Parts: sequence; C-alpha cells; structure tokens
Amino acid sequence: MSLTRVHNFAISLDGFGTGEPQSLEEPFGHAGERLHEWMFATRWWNENVGEPGGTTGVDDAIARRHQPGIGAEIMGANKFGPPGWHEDPEWKGWWGENPPFHSPTFVMTHHTREPIEMQGGTTFHFRDASPAEVLEEARAAADGQDVRLGGGATVIRDFLAAGLVDHLHAVVVPILLGRGVRLWDGLEGLESDYEIESVASPSGVTHLTLTRTR
Ligand SMILES: NC(=O)c1ccc[n+]([C@@H]2O[C@H](COP(=O)([O-])OP(=O)(O)OC[C@H]3O[C@@H](n4cnc5c(N)ncnc54)[C@H](OP(=O)(O)O)[C@@H]3O)[C@@H](O)[C@H]2O)c1
Repeated sequence: MSLTRVHNFAISLDGFGTGEPQSLEEPFGHAGERLHEWMFATRWWNENVGEPGGTTGVDDAIARRHQPGIGAEIMGANKFGPPGWHEDPEWKGWWGENPPFHSPTFVMTHHTREPIEMQGGTTFHFRDASPAEVLEEARAAADGQDVRLGGGATVIRDFLAAGLVDHLHAVVVPILLGRGVRLWDGLEGLESDYEIESVASPSGVTHLTLTRTR
C-alpha cells in the first residue's frame, strides 16, 4: 500500500517549522539556517549537493530515509516560493533546473498555473484542491510508490488534521524561535493515532517518528 510520508521536517523546541517573515533573501525568516544545521552536517546532504565529507552517525542514517520508495511529492505554496512568487511568470522554485524531487510534484496553491517540466524527472503541478483530492492525484502519479509530504508546516498540519499522514519524521532542534508557523497547533490528542519513538542524537537534535496505528 502507498503511504504518505514526511521526512526531515525540522521544528524548534516551541514547535515552529519556519521563522518569519519569509522572503526571497531569507526563506525561513529570522530562523535563518538554524533549523537545518543538523542536516547540512550529514554525508547524505553533502552527497546530494556534490560536496565531500559529512557525518555518518544517527542524523545521517535517519536523514537518508527521505528518498527511497517515493514516487511523488506534495508541497505548499510557501515552500515553492517566497511571498508573491505567483506574480512572477518565470518562477520555477528555489532549486534550479534540476530540482531534487525527481518525480511529479504537486504544489498546493490558490494561484494555479500550467505544469512546469524540469530536468531530472520533476514536473510541478499546481493544484487548488483539498488535501484528500491532491493526495489521491499524487498517489496515482506515484504509481504504487509512496507520496512524500514536503512541507511547510501549514500543509503538513492540514494533512495531519485530515488523518492523511502515515509516517511523520520530525526533528526537534534545541532552539526557541518564538514566532513563525507552528506545526502542532489544533492537533490536540494526535498522539493517540500514532506509535511514537524518539531518538536523541549526539548533535543535539531529537528525531521523532510517528507511525500511524489506526
Ligand atoms: N522545517 C522544515 O523542515 C521545512 C521544510 C519545508 C519547508 N519549510 C519552510 O516552511 C515555510 C513554508 O511553510 P508555511 O507553513 O508558511 O506554508 P506552506 O505549508 O508551504 O504553504 C501554505 C500555503 O499553501 C497554499 N495552500 C495550502 N493548502 C491549500 C489548499 N488546500 N488549496 C489551495 N492552496 C493551498 C496557500 O497559499 P496561497 O493561498 O498563497 O496559494 C497556503 O498559504 C517556508 O519558509 C519553507 O522554507 C520548512
């Protein structure tokens, strides 16, 4: 069965998945790169960006689960671009001509446009529809493989509220952001639907995995 999976989603101790304000210069606002320093240190990350070196411990082992078995991605409009991206007809995402998704990628937005075919197997499709409808389409496009929910916090929270997430890997980073977009708001009692494990890494982050049980 095709699962809906979240991987490597970083949150602060107070639950923010991004800081504010989001902009072209600072995609994560005042959070800067602090939510992802743990990931940038891994060998997995370096392999992806063509750099040598990197750690090979707990963070690396868990971060690597991001890609295997994934056949499509869903993301929110604010992950795809900074505020106002839809006013730029040339905007094709942050990731250059060969984005790291390598699969059909569904951008949830109220500002739809024609699909954009990129190099390396990524085609961006823009959808103004409910989480369940977008997931159904992504699942068909994934052709038997799993669907990754790439973020940001708003979209993941909406999918969690709709009961559509099978596996969630969140990385709790020991910083307090105080403001931004929070992942867990409005999800009281969510833990009763999941088996939850946490692993503390020597790097200082805690890996939480939520596996759906009902
Ligand atoms: N912490 C992490 O690991 C991580 C991972 C990925 C991304 N991020 C960051 O998270 C931030 C983005 O998160 P976010 O919570 O602000 O936003 P988001 O989840 O990326 O996108 C939310 C937006 O998507 C559109 N949307 C959502 N549901 C929709 C629906 N059913 N129909 C139509 N449109 C829909 C709406 O935008 P419109 O109305 O404008 O179309 C909505 O405001 C960025 O800074 C990104 O870099 C963090």
